[in-house]
Amino acid sequence: MHAPLSVKVFLLSLPLNTASGVTDLGKRQEINRDVVIVGGGASGTYAAVRLREDLNTSVVVIEPQDRLGGHVATYTVPGTNTTIDYGVQSYINYGPALDFFTRFNIETKQFINERRTPINVDITTGKLLTGYIPPNSTAFTEEFREWLAFAEQYEHLMSPGFWDFPLPEHIPPELLVPFRETAKRIGLHNALPLMFSISGTGTGGIGHDFATLSMLRYFGAPITRGVIATSLLQPVVSNSLLYHRAYDLLNDDVLLEGFIKKTERKRSGVRMVVKTKTGEVVINAKKVLWTPQPKHGGNLEVFDEDEKEADVFRKLGDTYLYIGVAHIPCIPETNQLNSLSPKAVPSNYMDSRAAPYSVAISPTGPLGLGLFRSMLTSTVPMNASGAKRLIAAEVQRAIDGGALNYTGKCEVDFKAFTDHSGVEWPQDIKSLKQGFIQKLYGLQGYRNTWWTGRVFSAETYSSNIWAFTDEVVEKLVQDLQRS
Ligand SMILES: Cc1cc2nc3c(=O)[nH]c(=O)nc-3n(C[C@H](O)[C@H](O)[C@H](O)COP(=O)(O)OP(=O)(O)OC[C@H]3O[C@@H](n4cnc5c(N)ncnc54)[C@H](O)[C@@H]3O)c2cc1C
Ligand SMILES: *[C@@H]1O[C@H](CO)[C@@H](O)[C@H](O)[C@H]1NC(C)=O
Ligand SMILES: *[C@@H]1O[C@H](CO)[C@@H](O)[C@H](O)[C@H]1NC(C)=O
Ligand SMILES: *[C@@H]1O[C@H](CO)[C@@H](O)[C@H](O)[C@H]1NC(C)=O
Ligand SMILES: *[C@@H]1O[C@H](CO)[C@@H](O)[C@H](O)[C@H]1NC(C)=O
Ligand SMILES: *[C@@H]1O[C@H](CO)[C@@H](O)[C@H](O)[C@H]1NC(C)=O
Repeated sequence: MHAPLSVKVFLLSLPLNTASGVTDLGKRQEINRDVVIVGGGASGTYAAVRLREDLNTSVVVIEPQDRLGGHVATYTVPGTNTTIDYGVQSYINYGPALDFFTRFNIETKQFINERRTPINVDITTGKLLTGYIPPNSTAFTEEFREWLAFAEQYEHLMSPGFWDFPLPEHIPPELLVPFRETAKRIGLHNALPLMFSISGTGTGGIGHDFATLSMLRYFGAPITRGVIATSLLQPVVSNSLLYHRAYDLLNDDVLLEGFIKKTERKRSGVRMVVKTKTGEVVINAKKVLWTPQPKHGGNLEVFDEDEKEADVFRKLGDTYLYIGVAHIPCIPETNQLNSLSPKAVPSNYMDSRAAPYSVAISPTGPLGLGLFRSMLTSTVPMNASGAKRLIAAEVQRAIDGGALNYTGKCEVDFKAFTDHSGVEWPQDIKSLKQGFIQKLYGLQGYRNTWWTGRVFSAETYSSNIWAFTDEVVEKLVQDLQRS
């Protein structure tokens, strides 16, 4: 598989000097690989390790950030070795996850979600949400069992991938029923706020055309089993350690702070020009594996997107999600602050996040430092500075409205802040009936391109995505052997 590519073909197809004219031939490096992997998050890192270490396939990973790990975000309290994972929190013990941690000698422990006494604030007024009855946590497990019994009926159709998913006319009708109705039918009620908070869903409200299948993507059988069994895992040191060790291993095969400038995907192979700190790198590869959330008119602009692909990716919708660690002196560290829609009163949990955005602020520890994980999910377009402003404004609103016992202006001081915005599937029933899943999977292998990551995996947690990536990588290697 390592036979050098026919470089000649590529040289003919791309002028040596790119349009911007910044090419310095002296600094331009050319490399050949079996597979170029776009993105070094959960799936890109996993694929690189599997392909290079286990499947005798040469790779190079392109990652715009200065680190691997994607949605993993770890803050180290200055002057200490105390780490706070404020992005990805925990892992389902599913598929290859434990083996992957073991491979890098990462010790794991049970993840305990320490829930603090909530201060539930009316997002429209900043007042305590009067009349709201918090969910009955004793009822969670029974409700999750009902949901699991439902989800397991369809697990074979989706986990970990939708490869053999039925054509629109054969989709089991229950999957196309609005999730609101399914929840009511099976008695899913008190568990909804926890479901929304684990999966980051519900903001903007659960519409009447939000399909049951869409909820299964975010909260399918594997995560439900993990929650019921309290078997979610967490690395002992930090979530970043895995990615540090993976980087140490992959090393020269990762281009950190690498930005794709141009791509050509042809029958003969893939050629990509990448800008790095040390100059331009031209990559000639037989196949490309794309892993980030693909955005039409966004990161796909430099990926030579064609009409068939655009037809699929145009249907994805934007999501806005920001998380930071902030010093907040005005919330007791024994509490967490949730801003809820007044529609939640008295116990309409389905609509608890019906406002266009939602904010959840919870203490991270170590106690005494006043540090809080502050998360903003929004359906309204927003950049990082807008998100910071809005989080601080929510805290101030809760003070002004009297939900927080504090006088004066509360200084919300962000110590770390990351952008987790991206794109997501269309969630309406109509798109599923129009064959969205088949159109999406119809792109696998097309134009020497394979796709993994959150948008292609049936379910959205790291362990699900690793299991799915194993399947993609297997198909990719078969494809390589054929060509
Ligand atoms: C806030 C948040 C918390 C989460 N918490 C959990 C959790 O606790 N447990 C869990 O299992 N799952 C969690 N998830 C789900 C998460 O989606 C997966 O765990 C996982 O990170 C997805 O992996 P991925 O490879 O698809 O994407 P990512 O991990 O996001 O990786 C994509 C990578 O591609 C890079 N990239 C972007 N654009 C380009 C480009 N143009 N060129 C090259 N590279 C590019 C990005 O920088 C990133 O490194 C969470 C998700 C979010 C958003
Ligand atoms: C790995 O690939 C190289 C180049 O394609 C080949 O020569 C070698 O035999 C392969 N090794 C194994 C163990 O398959
Ligand atoms: C952090 O850990 C390193 C390595 O274990 C140790 O040498 C160092 O003293 C620690 N620093 C603090 C502030 O605890
Ligand atoms: C909470 O749920 C449990 C289990 O379903 C039930 O026994 C209990 O009565 C409920 N408590 C309240 C206050 O409704
Ligand atoms: C963020 O958005 C605001 C308002 O939409 C805008 O004024 C500001 O320039 C943006 N900031 C950045 C860094 O893009
Ligand atoms: C508010 O804070 C003050 C000063 O810390 C305290 O005396 C008072 O009891 C608090 N009130 C409530 C309702 O918690």
